[in-house]
Amino acid sequence: MTKYIIQGGKPLYGELEVSGAKNAAVAIIPAALLVDGTCRIENIPRISDVTMLLGILKQMGARVGVVNKNTVDIDCSRVSGTRATFDDMRRIRASYYLLGALLGRYGSASVAMPGGCNFGGIRPIDQHIKGFTAMGASVSVKNGIVTAETAGRAAGAVVYIDVVSVGATINIMLSAALAEGRTVIENAAKEPHIVDLANFLNSMGADIKGAGTNVIKINGVQRLSGGSYSIIPDQIEAGTYMVAAAGAGGSVAVKNVIPKHLVSISGKLREMGVDVYEGEDAVVVTREAPLRRTNIKTQPYPGFPTDMQPQISTILCLARGTSVVTEGVWDNRFRYAGELVKMGGVIQVSGRTAIIEGVPALTGAPLRSCDLRAGAAMVIAGLCAGGVTEIEGVEYIERGYEDIVGKLRGLGADIRSVYAPDKRSLPIRA
Ligand code: EPU
Repeated sequence: MTKYIIQGGKPLYGELEVSGAKNAAVAIIPAALLVDGTCRIENIPRISDVTMLLGILKQMGARVGVVNKNTVDIDCSRVSGTRATFDDMRRIRASYYLLGALLGRYGSASVAMPGGCNFGGIRPIDQHIKGFTAMGASVSVKNGIVTAETAGRAAGAVVYIDVVSVGATINIMLSAALAEGRTVIENAAKEPHIVDLANFLNSMGADIKGAGTNVIKINGVQRLSGGSYSIIPDQIEAGTYMVAAAGAGGSVAVKNVIPKHLVSISGKLREMGVDVYEGEDAVVVTREAPLRRTNIKTQPYPGFPTDMQPQISTILCLARGTSVVTEGVWDNRFRYAGELVKMGGVIQVSGRTAIIEGVPALTGAPLRSCDLRAGAAMVIAGLCAGGVTEIEGVEYIERGYEDIVGKLRGLGADIRSVYAPDKRSLPIRA
């Protein structure tokens, strides 16, 4: 068990490179199942979700070659089965993309579903199933395993998604790339990683148009062939460091980003009195004056991302005045608020709304991360607070942030990762 120890209250100065996008990587890796031949994937983030997903593909018979730290070759030509029901599958939510990929490639998929959501709410897949069914699949869910089957190739269909869903949009794209005929996804999600998946598939020979708009048209092709592709930079990792710099103060150049993907975050930081300069592939965040209050409502892209809500709410605890944060995507994403209260934050949560009264300072405390983005918020809180903050549950953070400790230390933060035995697992002496 590892924990982070942060001596807070130091401003951040310097520059860092953002890694490849987690949520693009976890869609593109399963998409390799659709390809005949080897896919070289570059700018892959070194995070535990990626390691686990590559491990799952290997267990299924894929050959995975590590070319260098951020590049892998994946060859799925030896994958024989269409069942992916290993224990690891339950630990990574994006394993459900194997459903769309296996269904699209082999007309059959049996995939273990991840358990309940670690930020508190239910994560339904009814819209994924609606898409597969429209494409001619029979779908059943039994004993935690989802099975989808078509007689022959999946059939192109028009699918209207009832709730804008990243996962359903991606899964339908995966099952449609090799389907018979044309699939149209209406009310599709528009996140940058959806465009990235479409670009990956198109670079391997798929015919997908409209990704990034709310109507995506996929003309099924007979075959995808190997090639190489570089994943886009991670919008949420970039936003996390932008917010860290805004909270702790100082001046940080966040490099290897697509500034257009960050406009909702840059806009909110400017409302809070933070200077954000946009270059071609970098943003520079400088904060010298006290933070000002603002309101946030999370929405699907291009709205303010739900995956940045815990981080920005953390620094709103230190902004002058009262801020209202409304969660527009998930039912229950304020579980971390209790940890900020331990540090002196004043937050009242009611349903999908949090009311935050800014305080002049937070104080270090022992904290426990309960999910990936909540964990990132704990780190930001520790950097901003006076005194020492210890964070447990960092395995959540390392699911999605490559070398967060090293990157923050490079900006002058006093953060260490230390081994700490899990006392709860030790035998109790009678
Ligand atoms: N929804 C349904 N039915 C469905 C699917 C979704 O009702 O069949 C609802 C959900 O309950 C939620 C909303 O639709 O209220 C949006 O869910 P979506 O399907 O877009 O979420 P997801 O695909 O499961 C991805 C990201 C999440 C991110 C959301 C929203 C990946 C692997 N995960 O999840 O990222 O919060 O989109 O942008 O791409 C994270 O990175 O920390 C993370 C949780």
